[in-house]
Amino acid sequence: MDLSFQEIEGRLANRIRAHKLFANFDINSWIADFVGEKHWDAVLDVGCGNGNHLGIYLQHLTDTGRVVGLDRDVALLEEADARYPDAVGLELLAQSMDQPLPFADNTFDLVMSLFAIYNAKDPAATLREIHRVTRRGGQLVLVGSTINNANELFEFNERLTGQRIDERTKARSGRLADEFLPVVRELFHECNDEVLASYLTFPNRDEFLRYYCSTLLYEETAERMRFSRADLEAACTATNWERLSKEVLVITARKAP
Ligand SMILES: C[S@@+](CC[C@H](N)C(=O)[O-])C[C@H]1O[C@@H](n2cnc3c(N)ncnc32)[C@H](O)[C@@H]1O
Repeated sequence: MDLSFQEIEGRLANRIRAHKLFANFDINSWIADFVGEKHWDAVLDVGCGNGNHLGIYLQHLTDTGRVVGLDRDVALLEEADARYPDAVGLELLAQSMDQPLPFADNTFDLVMSLFAIYNAKDPAATLREIHRVTRRGGQLVLVGSTINNANELFEFNERLTGQRIDERTKARSGRLADEFLPVVRELFHECNDEVLASYLTFPNRDEFLRYYCSTLLYEETAERMRFSRADLEAACTATNWERLSKEVLVITARKAP
């Protein structure tokens, strides 16, 4: 089953905005705390998107340190480039994580992949590559949704479109725990996993619909079925749109020294 997809311009930014404004728990603070524990020589962000987290890594580099942001979406990399015009030590690489990584063994002391790794076609192949380019004693952080993520959104979508959550979407949200975690445990020396209860509280219906219309779920269902704005608003009346669960799984691992 091909689970890959291409982000449509502006939609990722809309979702990031909603998380910044309406989340009870800011995953960026968690990431900043983790990354801020030391200074890093070489950081790789797999699926860096429009560079949402690159600034955090850039703030915690050694004097000669570098950050590589890898994504297959060139438009998002251009956005990332524009966000950090004066960054020293930042490289952006247009490449799929399904391909072998163009780095020597033991290159990075930190590899991050946030809300992206579960797009990989072959988890074991991508994780073997990540493990290869991670330094001995280096760390890996994978963050992504759990199977409980966005249940309310699927209910809303079903009310609107009559379509139940599809196998492709279900498979994608459970992949980090089901397919990636076991391989990380096998490859890496230490591995910890933690589920964080996060949710969004929308202040009004328009903000909820703005978020919904920025999701892949919308793109793959309601947008194709050409529902009108009035249809979307009508579906809100009988739905609890105020609160949306965004449970995330955080996997941290270390390569053997
Ligand atoms: C939800 S976004 C997350 C972006 C960023 N990590 C963040 O947290 O803001 C998922 C990203 O994964 C990228 N992506 C999807 N499949 C990919 C692949 N096979 N190789 C590289 N990047 C991929 C998308 O282009 C997108 O930028």
